Amino acid sequence: MTQKLLFVCLGNICRSPSAEGIMNHLLQQEQLTHAICCDSAGTSSYHIGAAPDRRMAAAALRQGIVLTGNSRQVQPADFATFDWILAMDRQNYEDLLRLNRTPQSSPKIHLICDFCTAHNDQEVPDPYYGGASGFDYVIDLLLDACTGLLHHLQPQVASRHRSR
Ligand code: 4NP
Repeated sequence: MTQKLLFVCLGNICRSPSAEGIMNHLLQQEQLTHAICCDSAGTSSYHIGAAPDRRMAAAALRQGIVLTGNSRQVQPADFATFDWILAMDRQNYEDLLRLNRTPQSSPKIHLICDFCTAHNDQEVPDPYYGGASGFDYVIDLLLDACTGLLHHLQPQVASRHRSR
């Protein structure tokens, strides 16, 4: 069974589309695109329909990662649909707990930085009102977090495929 991951930030134009693009990039490298699928969403309605922020897309492209998609807001059904819901910061995490109407889904919600191995950050900083270096830092941090998350998921994915 395919594992479904949802990456969540505030606007769904900077951090969560980056996490989605990075994880898809890693899945292609590891030939695991059949086993894990990714989406992203925002807790706010601020940018619904918008493409990823140009500054964020440029920073991603500097690492060879293409950002795709258009902003959408988190929906109640997401808590049932997805297996892993990864918040970029604590505010996103709290908002997700509040938006979730199915308490049994709460254990699916995690802070993505919990999967970092090289960085000590607990949150992915919001780059929207900052300078160019903030966007590059988001990519660095998310490469670390997504690599750690993929290593965490790989045994589960492997055993699910063996047991089919
Ligand atoms: P994101 O960044 O949550 O990483 O997509 C932001 C995008 C827009 C705003 C804030 C953060 N905003 O306030 O419009």
